[in-house]
Amino acid sequence: MDVILLGGPGSGKGTQAELLQERLGITHVASGDLFRENINNQTELGLLAKGYIDQGQLVPDEVTISMIQDRLQKPDVEDGILFDGFPRTIPQAEALEKLLAEFNRKIDVVINLSVSEDEIVRRLSGRLICRECQIPFHREFNPFKECPLGKCNGEFLYQREDDKPETVRERLEVFNRQTAPLIAFFQERGNLITVSGEGTLESINNRIIDALQLEN
Ligand code: AP5
Ligand code: MG
Repeated sequence: MDVILLGGPGSGKGTQAELLQERLGITHVASGDLFRENINNQTELGLLAKGYIDQGQLVPDEVTISMIQDRLQKPDVEDGILFDGFPRTIPQAEALEKLLAEFNRKIDVVINLSVSEDEIVRRLSGRLICRECQIPFHREFNPFKECPLGKCNGEFLYQREDDKPETVRERLEVFNRQTAPLIAFFQERGNLITVSGEGTLESINNRIIDALQLEN
């Protein structure tokens, strides 16, 4: 099963992906996480991506598509992928359809997480990310208790550079301009389901599971 989690910045894609990947038995692939890994490792790709990410802009399509193309070659994605943050433009969506077709696969379902802009600002201003495993927490709404992977004691938590209020505003504009058109794109394909991304982590997770018609 290949699934896309679509939604604005801070809509909870990373949080829900963490809960869903095990449940669906597929691998979480997050373009933002891949970029941040490259930034941490100071690769050429990371250096290029950082300039765009810190401004709240999208990394150019050809760079992003080729990064995902490389990721699709790894054996851990054979049973399916939970895409988070990719595709983010119409050309990326068209490229993904072609890439998956090479493996006789298709996008089975697109989950559109809908969250108000006020809530997004509240979430991103308090977000803390684990540098080691990229899992998102929140100072108030989802404080670190223990590492879900049992790897750390919360010593690697940091605030993302692009979570500054002015960059969040830019990311929201970029989402509305470049990514929101994907909602109509996938609606036309007939595989889009829209789920409210507001409420507790668990209630949103249950809504997604219901929408996917899986048994709770
Ligand atoms: P990316 O890392 O994908 O950022 P994003 O899309 O802006 O999404 P976020 O990771 O900020 O939010 P999220 O939806 O994962 O929410 P989270 O679960 O963390 O991309 C970063 C940048 O990389 C882009 O701006 C771009 O430059 C570049 N990039 C990435 N992909 C690209 C592409 N395809 N093409 C070009 N460029 C690309 O939750 C947010 C917070 O809310 C957390 O603190 C969490 O604890 C809290 N929270 C979650 N759920 C709830 C809840 N139900 N109630 C209360 N709090 C909650
Ligand atoms: Mg994320």
